Amino acid sequence: MGKVHVFDHPLIQHKLSIMRNKDTGCKEFRELLDEISMLMVYEVTRDLSTQTIEVETPICRTTTRVLAGKPIGIIPILRAGLGMVDGILQLIPNAKVGHIGLYRDPETLEPVEYYCKLPEDAVHRELIVLDPMLATGGSACAAISFIKKRGCSNIRLVNLIAAPEGIARVQAEHPDVDIYVAAQDEKLNEHGYIVPGLGDAGDRLFGTK
Ligand code: PRP
Ligand code: URA
Repeated sequence: MGKVHVFDHPLIQHKLSIMRNKDTGCKEFRELLDEISMLMVYEVTRDLSTQTIEVETPICRTTTRVLAGKPIGIIPILRAGLGMVDGILQLIPNAKVGHIGLYRDPETLEPVEYYCKLPEDAVHRELIVLDPMLATGGSACAAISFIKKRGCSNIRLVNLIAAPEGIARVQAEHPDVDIYVAAQDEKLNEHGYIVPGLGDAGDRLFGTK
């Protein structure tokens, strides 16, 4: 079963608390998501492999470490996952970016796919799927399934807030995928929203409601 990593770092928790507040506006919400994503990816990538190389400093020759292994691909789930891309690219500027367009049908809560474009060499990359909200888990599971159908493995899922229901579904359907979250919330309400959550992440990010 995939592990769940919860980041309880004070900076992440402080910023997330501001995002949860309904009075926080679109501009600040966007900036905070950007900052938290940057802080989270630092930990998400902690186990990446490195190799030792030699460099000549102005003082002497020495051995030092650089990244080795598979390059990174990041895959935001549209729309709200887009808000996590820039923060991550600031730390991993060479990452390639794929996009998966999904929306949740408001009646059935099932994900509907409308777009998928992955990097050509995605199978050779370590992939990080991004979505601020993991609610029923339908969108994340569908996105991961699309990616796997294209032959990819080595997938991690990064969410800001996850409901227990979403975590359980990803663990059941994709036991090979580790999940990284800033907070694990209490439950889903009758409309499939995370409680206490932060509302509709896409609408708050893009100011559409
Ligand atoms: C939200 C969110 C996730 C999904 C989570 O997207 O960004 O993608 O819901 O819910 P789930 O775990 O129950 O699938 P939404 O469908 O509102 O689309 P949007 O990002 O375009 O607003
Ligand atoms: N999608 C959101 O944006 N928020 C939720 O709470 C659940 C799904």
